[in-house]
Amino acid sequence: MRSILIFLSLFALTFASPVLDKRACRNVGCKCAKGTKQGQYCGISSAVTVLGSGGIEDIYECNSSGGCCSYGPADKCRL
Ligand SMILES: *[C@@H]1O[C@H](CO)[C@@H](O)[C@H](O)[C@H]1NC(C)=O
Repeated sequence: MRSILIFLSLFALTFASPVLDKRACRNVGCKCAKGTKQGQYCGISSAVTVLGSGGIEDIYECNSSGGCCSYGPADKCRL
């Protein structure tokens, strides 16, 4: 019984969450270049001018006024 639950939560974490769970966008003190098109950018992108406490392999949401928040590490941002 217990192992089924563990299996299910592992499954949810590894497969379901990146797709289904829109992870909270956290304010990590990052900044984006003004005029950046609203969207998601990796930490390495020049759109993200200040990482704050976020990592270079995190994915960030930028808006056109330079606002920024982080969704945390993302596979597509791995270097
Ligand atoms: C951009 O994001 C910042 C920080 O989250 C927010 O304060 C600002 O209202 C946003 N601006 C727009 C145009 O969405």
